[in-house]
Amino acid sequence: MREDGAVPADSGALGPQFDFLLQEPLSRARGGDSLQKQLLHRLRAAVLDGRFPAGSRLPGSRVLAESLGVSRNTVTLVYEVLSTEGYIEPSRQGTRVAALARPEPEERAHPAPAALARRGERIRKRELGGVDSFAFAPGVPALAQFPLAAWRRSLDRVLQRGGTQLLGYGPPQGEPALRMAVLRHLALARGMRCAPEQVVITEGAQEALSLCVRLVTDPGDTAWIEDPGYRGVQTALACGDLLVVPVPVDAEGLRTSASDWRDRPPRLVCTTPAHQYPTGAVLTASRRLDLIEKCRRHGAWIVEDDYDGEFRHSGEPLACMQGLTPGAPVFYVGTFSKTLFPSLRVGFLILPEQLVDRAAPVVDELLRGGHRHEQLALAHFMESGQYSRHLARMRRLYRRRRDALRTALAEHFDVPHTVTGGDSGMHLTVWLPPDAPDQPLARAARRHRMAPRPLSQHSLLPGTAHNGLVLGYGNTPESAFAPGLHQLAHLIRDLD
Ligand SMILES: Cc1ncc(COP(=O)(O)O)c(C=O)c1O
Repeated sequence: MREDGAVPADSGALGPQFDFLLQEPLSRARGGDSLQKQLLHRLRAAVLDGRFPAGSRLPGSRVLAESLGVSRNTVTLVYEVLSTEGYIEPSRQGTRVAALARPEPEERAHPAPAALARRGERIRKRELGGVDSFAFAPGVPALAQFPLAAWRRSLDRVLQRGGTQLLGYGPPQGEPALRMAVLRHLALARGMRCAPEQVVITEGAQEALSLCVRLVTDPGDTAWIEDPGYRGVQTALACGDLLVVPVPVDAEGLRTSASDWRDRPPRLVCTTPAHQYPTGAVLTASRRLDLIEKCRRHGAWIVEDDYDGEFRHSGEPLACMQGLTPGAPVFYVGTFSKTLFPSLRVGFLILPEQLVDRAAPVVDELLRGGHRHEQLALAHFMESGQYSRHLARMRRLYRRRRDALRTALAEHFDVPHTVTGGDSGMHLTVWLPPDAPDQPLARAARRHRMAPRPLSQHSLLPGTAHNGLVLGYGNTPESAFAPGLHQLAHLIRDLD
């Protein structure tokens, strides 16, 4: 039937290549796609799959309309769209199919292999994804303790004052108010020396790490990283096509060797000096100074990842490496993922003073200023004193939880083990004997709603003897420690 109810008049006028349209007529079902849309899709598909070779002529709109029993207007509009999209071209002899770069039939039968670039393939995939609400999940702060009402007030205030003005792009380096608030906080809390131009607000520490790689390395450069170490930094380096050199960690933090400096000098050294992740070691003052001095001599840059340095439980607060000596070649990376909450996705990068003039214009091109409401709310949250109050409360809470976890390990975990890393942060590292392999243990723990992270997942060199569990206590109440540890000990006994 025609659109107007009539039957197609002339089906022979089109030629056999149009049989597919005639043998399966356009659907006129109520609520279905319009005739125009159906015809467009069918003709486009026919051009793409080679049924109409390049240069072949399409029938005139009147002939096609009559053959299909649709109005001429429908065909004209479809031809117009196909012409705009470049599938057909009007010519003096009528409408012709355009020459397209189409895959040959045999190529279509063998599609391109579904592989990533070497860079993507090199990234280690997580075997056990994080389950933040499970007991002992590392890296998660005490979510239930977050002052949600105060945060909502800061957000409301910003929304009311800024309104739709804030919906446009913001400054790529971040909202000036937040950059100033971060700078003031770092100067007081971490001994930071820097100017406002050096502060870049990022999407968490991860973006800051990637920025460092993009700013100061070229493919093939050498980067040193801690082994065992944080997987996020491995990922950032893998994307830079760098030669990654694992450097061992001992009780005093990153242990570099004279032979590494001589044979494989770095362009970038990535470290977590305040609380090595995952072992918990604190990089000693003499190693810090030595590292700064040697990097200076070799033209290398340090990336100081201070992810949980705000939570220092023993001794004096440690000053950051960035502020240790004037002009230290240090990129300082910080995050609000631990001090506030991870889904905020706000962190910051402090550019080295001597690089800021060159790096800031590049950062301006690499980033887009977004999340303006959250950034301004955070600035208000910090300037109004809420942030320091929350930090002080969390420091007390985490210290209590750390003490309780240490006690619970001594009393309720009857498996030979060694504990490291309680001076800062929100996790303890429990080293286990080889007959308690950490990966099957962590898998078994998942079934009991526990998510300690296997230490071996943080090893870079396969076969290194890092075996144990990273036990997070940030988001785990003390009441869960003893039963959880009993259960883990039980699972270890069941492993063999
Ligand atoms: C060593 C280290 N750096 C940084 C981060 C935080 O990264 P982000 O700010 O991207 O959440 C983590 C989180 O677990 C970490 O363990």
